[in-house]
Amino acid sequence: MTDTLTARIDGALQHIVNPRTGQDVVSSGQARDVATTTDGKVRLTLLLAANDDATLARAVRQAVERVDGVTDVRVDVKDAGEPAAPPAPPAANAGAPPKRSALPVMDAAPQAARPSAPTPVLYPNLGRIIAVSSGKGGVGKSTTTVNLAVALAQMGKKVGLMDADIYGPNIPRMMGVDAPPPVDGEKIIPLEAHGVKLMSLGFLIERDQPAIWRGPIVMKIITQFLRDVAWGKLDYFLVDMPPGTGDAQLSLVQATQVSGAIIVTTPQEVAVGDALRGAKMFQRVGVPVLGVVENMSYFESPETGKPMAIFGTGGGKRLADELEVPLLGEVPLYPPVLEGGDSGVPIVVAAPETTAARKFVEIAKRLDA
Ligand SMILES: Nc1ncnc2c1ncn2[C@@H]1O[C@H](COP(=O)(O)OP(=O)(O)OP(=O)(O)O)[C@@H](O)[C@H]1O
Ligand SMILES: [Mg+2]
Repeated sequence: MTDTLTARIDGALQHIVNPRTGQDVVSSGQARDVATTTDGKVRLTLLLAANDDATLARAVRQAVERVDGVTDVRVDVKDAGEPAAPPAPPAANAGAPPKRSALPVMDAAPQAARPSAPTPVLYPNLGRIIAVSSGKGGVGKSTTTVNLAVALAQMGKKVGLMDADIYGPNIPRMMGVDAPPPVDGEKIIPLEAHGVKLMSLGFLIERDQPAIWRGPIVMKIITQFLRDVAWGKLDYFLVDMPPGTGDAQLSLVQATQVSGAIIVTTPQEVAVGDALRGAKMFQRVGVPVLGVVENMSYFESPETGKPMAIFGTGGGKRLADELEVPLLGEVPLYPPVLEGGDSGVPIVVAAPETTAARKFVEIAKRLDA
């Protein structure tokens, strides 16, 4: 069974071609050390060169996630220029077959396979730390995070917003800021927009420049954002995550005590299935899921204001029921939401009277209650 799973994963990876080399990641040896468990957890190493496109990591993760029988994926990104890391110390390796594979086979929560998980550090000044996550990409995490952050700020809360999506940071664009943050001595001063303090990798990397963020570096950056940014005293600290259950999620829950996670999904079954996986990952590491946001629940025509169910219905509710958490709200697919994201003025500011904006405000109130 495991063998056929590995073969299926190899097959999927053979379709991922590195544009730099023109070779697929299996033939070139870039994707290696594929380890699987009987319950479908997968761990593999991806070697990235400095001039490789960092989205390759996401493409690899997504390809493996789509393989039949896979329940969980972890991609350890390593610098192709550096020698491979030594195998994990024996303690973390207990029960795994000796030699053969350089990586221990995951036999518990993925974080257990991490050799030396750091002890979470408390940052009481940050208030409640809330991760906004999803199983699938493109469901509206960043849109939800931005609008919730601004809605909470409009309610008089002190809010920080951290963009932890290292592969596609887009919070700066959605919040309409684009300057590098000033540095004062040891501290980075967060930028502020729409009453929210924010920090994003988008400030640190040049737009359109391929950047390489290796797994261990993700941890370092997240810790730096928590520790070295002069956030001041906050009530809420929202973290926009990349999709899935990758390094950023693990790094965040290892770096600090996360108060809870909000899971964003669209109504379609496939998105709901992925979201369930993402939510379970948080629960497994002891982070409570605060609730589900169903985004693009239905289409609302800007001309007529009429709701139209075009993606099926009830996915968010089913997910919330399955997780035994509240459905925090259903936000319509409404073109001005997208325009607000593109122009840097979130819908709760640009058009507070619209259904979509009111839904985001309701969710913020529910969260605060
Ligand atoms: N309710 C909505 N109505 C209309 N457009 C929306 C809505 N929610 C999100 N969008 C648009 O859909 C696209 C994807 O949304 P967003 O970037 O927030 O998703 P994401 O889950 O953060 O994606 P990624 O996984 O790439 O980080 C964006 O262009 C956004 O403006
Ligand atoms: Mg996003």
